[in-house]
Amino acid sequence: MNSKAVLKVGILGLGTVGTGVAKILLETKGRHALLNTLEIEKVGVRSLKPRSIDLPETLYTTDLDSIVSDPSIDIIVEVIGGLEPARSLILKAIENGKHVVSANKAVVSRYGEEIYAAATTAGVYVMIEAAVGGGIPIIAPLKQALCVNRIQAVMGIINGTTNYILTRMQNEGGDFESILTDAQSLGYAEADPTADVDGLDAADKISILAALAFGGRIKREDIYCEGIRNVSAADISYAEKLGFVIKLLAIAQLPKQLPQKINADSARRIQARVHPTLVPIDHPLASVNDVNNAVLVEGEPIGQVMLYGPGAGEGPTASAVVADLMAIAANPTCDHALNPLLACSHTYSLDIVPSTEVVTRLYVRLLVKDTPGVIGKLGTCFGRYDVSLESIVQIGIQNRLVELVVVTHEVSEGAFQQALEEIRQFPEVTDIPSLLHVL
Ligand code: HSE
Repeated sequence: MNSKAVLKVGILGLGTVGTGVAKILLETKGRHALLNTLEIEKVGVRSLKPRSIDLPETLYTTDLDSIVSDPSIDIIVEVIGGLEPARSLILKAIENGKHVVSANKAVVSRYGEEIYAAATTAGVYVMIEAAVGGGIPIIAPLKQALCVNRIQAVMGIINGTTNYILTRMQNEGGDFESILTDAQSLGYAEADPTADVDGLDAADKISILAALAFGGRIKREDIYCEGIRNVSAADISYAEKLGFVIKLLAIAQLPKQLPQKINADSARRIQARVHPTLVPIDHPLASVNDVNNAVLVEGEPIGQVMLYGPGAGEGPTASAVVADLMAIAANPTCDHALNPLLACSHTYSLDIVPSTEVVTRLYVRLLVKDTPGVIGKLGTCFGRYDVSLESIVQIGIQNRLVELVVVTHEVSEGAFQQALEEIRQFPEVTDIPSLLHVL
């Protein structure tokens, strides 16, 4: 591809995001002048039905392959989502020397290695600002403005659907199922909510952020992933009494080690996980509500930076896609080496610490028979496994059963699970309804 006055763009998909992108490219008045160097050449759609956007009919085609093969097109915008044909179309576009801008976190998190290797060979950019956090700029900051830092952690609320559901559960005291049903009828949750409520979407996104933050490839399937289906109104209420809100957090951080176990083998290992988490009420992520997203980056020497905003939707996501188009428009030539602050070529893999080795705080709720010495017995058992407790609170009593909530200090998750297995066998323990992580 050569430097040209105008770069031709082929858009694959004219759903919510594709429509938003086309609107921005058609209405450039009052925006950055560089936008005028981008021109829509073709739009690939599944069917030629009437659309809300006014584009010349000649731009439409249902033959998506023809767009990624079209020699006149410089940049492909892939916003069809899903794994296939998105992955194949991206690879074919790269093979044909086209830059790619994609919002597809599922493809990038699973096939990033293949895609970026092909892009490096072909000398093209694959830009993915819209894949994480919708309109929030987080990919470019990690690649550029924050890249001088030694990153210690990147964590956040990166799924709007689950944040909306948890916020409503918190505000209304309602249960997950009824609020999910309502969220679906209001259009805040998909008819098939699996990817969102089971944490898969957030896991895709944190694997992308972790790779950028820690500079290595991540195996998506190694990320521990737990969604919000089992978060109960009772736990939200108990957490609140203890000074926490429950959020679905995606966390990637350098491994924490207990003081007595510090060793030197932690290079190129990170903790990466998605789970409902008790967040202290005064933590910056605790006040991120509704469909909003936020990403907190901790690094040396910068300290903490939090980026907050709309994590989805036509305008915000299109804003991120078009920002990538403009970054390419500002660096369009492939006659030279790719700009290392825009490109991505990791040379090593990062190992993800198994759950049993994770060091974290935990919250567990138990139902026990109201007998003398039961709290002491629990404390002694945890103590035998080096599990240090921050608090044991008796929340309520019903039918001679006591509800206890235990919050630990930072402990080995493996040791905690072993202690809990033993506790589960105690004759006094009738149920352990919930186990959650604490930030
Ligand atoms: N389904 C996602 C969410 C938006 O609920 O945040 C697209 O990534």
